[in-house]
Amino acid sequence: MIEKSFLTCLLCVVIINIIRAENVDVKTSLGTVRGITVQDKETGESVYEFRGIRYGKPPTGARRFRKPEAVDPWEGEYDASHYGFACPQIVNDFLDDGSRNQSEDCLFLNVQVPRSLSSNEKRSVMVWIHGGGFTSGSAFIYDGTRLAIDGNVVVVSINYRLGVLGFLALYHPASRGNYGLWDQKLALQWVHDHIESFGGNPASVTIFGESAGGMSVSLQSLIPSNQGLFHRVIAQSGVVGRFLMVRKEAAIKSIDQLKSNTECKQNDLFGFVDCLRYVESGTLLNATNIWTSFPDDKISLEHPYSVVVDGELFPEHPMKRLEDPDSAQSVFFRSLDFMTGTTSQEGSLIPFIILPSVQQKFDFNVSVNIPSEFICKGMLRPWVDTHFEGDNNVYEAGCKFYTSDGSMDDQSNRAADLLATMIFTPSVREMLNYHSTKKTGKTYQYQFSKLSPRPLLPVPAWFRGSGHGDEIMYIFRTTDDERLKLMNVTLTGVDKEVSDHMITMWSSFAKTSIPSAGKSSLPWLEYEPKKSIYLDIDSEFSLRQRLNEAEVDFWSVKMTSPDLVDAYKYSDVHEEL
Ligand SMILES: *[C@@H]1O[C@H](CO)[C@@H](O)[C@H](O)[C@H]1NC(C)=O
Ligand SMILES: *[C@@H]1O[C@H](CO)[C@@H](O)[C@H](O)[C@H]1NC(C)=O
Ligand SMILES: *[C@@H]1O[C@H](CO)[C@@H](O)[C@H](O)[C@H]1NC(C)=O
Ligand SMILES: *[C@@H]1O[C@H](CO)[C@@H](O)[C@H](O)[C@H]1NC(C)=O
Repeated sequence: MIEKSFLTCLLCVVIINIIRAENVDVKTSLGTVRGITVQDKETGESVYEFRGIRYGKPPTGARRFRKPEAVDPWEGEYDASHYGFACPQIVNDFLDDGSRNQSEDCLFLNVQVPRSLSSNEKRSVMVWIHGGGFTSGSAFIYDGTRLAIDGNVVVVSINYRLGVLGFLALYHPASRGNYGLWDQKLALQWVHDHIESFGGNPASVTIFGESAGGMSVSLQSLIPSNQGLFHRVIAQSGVVGRFLMVRKEAAIKSIDQLKSNTECKQNDLFGFVDCLRYVESGTLLNATNIWTSFPDDKISLEHPYSVVVDGELFPEHPMKRLEDPDSAQSVFFRSLDFMTGTTSQEGSLIPFIILPSVQQKFDFNVSVNIPSEFICKGMLRPWVDTHFEGDNNVYEAGCKFYTSDGSMDDQSNRAADLLATMIFTPSVREMLNYHSTKKTGKTYQYQFSKLSPRPLLPVPAWFRGSGHGDEIMYIFRTTDDERLKLMNVTLTGVDKEVSDHMITMWSSFAKTSIPSAGKSSLPWLEYEPKKSIYLDIDSEFSLRQRLNEAEVDFWSVKMTSPDLVDAYKYSDVHEEL
């Protein structure tokens, strides 16, 4: 008996090995793609993987700082057995993608198909857009196996250009910027045109992403020419907000930075950008390294190589367009199903945002505490100066609001609250309200409160809550050592249950517009402005109302003042040059 099962097991190992090595071909209208079959470690089922499919021509040389060009048809089989290059980026400790090979030729995507490749399946499709502050990250880190198998959906993940190479923006036709967003748009067009060959349904596509990926999917949702490319959106810990786009003044400053760090000195902007096309990408990355170019007497939240008003994807600030419910942008946004949420303390980014030199200058250590003096002078002051014309009323009310009478730990957590406010929370409420007024698509909000057994970002002892990015591994959990340490975590017990639940809800939303976890579970009610219902995701799931109410109320009046017109005016000429 024992011998027999031993034999059977030997046999199954042999079979698995054979299957592992098996190539699979998919015919697309561009040519044949040759992928591989892998075995899901949890269920033993097959997943068909197509890694590193090129969707855009190399954006190099003359193509640098230009919209991407779709790939040409090919002869023979395209080898999709290994991942493509990550886009060039400065590797940092906390989002370590260092073992990935980088190349400027990086417009690749990955497709994972569960069980069968039959084009009769018509599975819903989920396209993941990674985060990393528009300066780092890659599709490779995220293993969609669980989502594909348990959700029975086709999972696609995409690379897009990052940093200066993806977002050099001069508010001028010499370089309009947003190349990384154009890459995403081209990848979404590829999915629309070809995913049927992989058993996917182009009429049921959900785009989802976290942090800069969440901001990306919500930006794509405000571009009316994307109509038909996707139908549902999940923006995790990042949406379009009043403070997201780089102001014209900050963007134009990059000209000086690049002139002083390269041989390109032309005053004519077309000549200048042309010269930059032939500077080694490593030189450009070093010249624009945000970790070394930030000031040392305050935090800096605006780095110039990010999304802008470009006169094309965004004729003006997208929040301005949302103010008009009849604009094409508003109408398109509301036609989509929209789910968004945050973790219970997005401010876990704070140790990385307050640089050591800043801590030295203000004489404190983030690991120990953040004094209220720094909250006022180092955080609020520069923010109010930039976005509220230095309004002293906003500054003083903010100082008071973020000063705690409690312990030193309470005070430090208020600093994290403020950071979460500056980057995340009020924008979420604003987008939800825009979406759910006169809407046609469904609207859902969540908060992720489950404490992770392995937080994505290391946090100080005083830190309370679930931090930025902590929900990602519940969707993309992996035990695959080949992946990077970022997602290398085995969830067990209640964490695995929460993960299974989330995968069911996320994929259910993608398939049906309703994020259901089955009949026996709590029905997740839609968000509407009056009741502001959201799902709290913890060891238990519960419905609650009015997330972060005090914070949102405090800022709701003051937040409306930032100028969304003059500071973001795209023009074909620079009067000031
Ligand atoms: C990086 O590229 C080299 C040379 O092409 C290759 O041998 C190596 O496996 C690649 N590494 C990764 C992690 O893909
Ligand atoms: C960029 O900076 C790194 C670290 O200082 C250095 O090792 C590398 O050679 C630089 N690359 C270029 C192209 O200057
Ligand atoms: C800050 O405090 C931590 C923990 O006590 C310590 O490891 C670190 O070296 C300190 N950093 C500085 C810059 O003093
Ligand atoms: C992933 O985690 C396992 C178990 O902790 C460890 O042995 C392995 O080295 C890790 N892999 C990577 C790439 O960090």
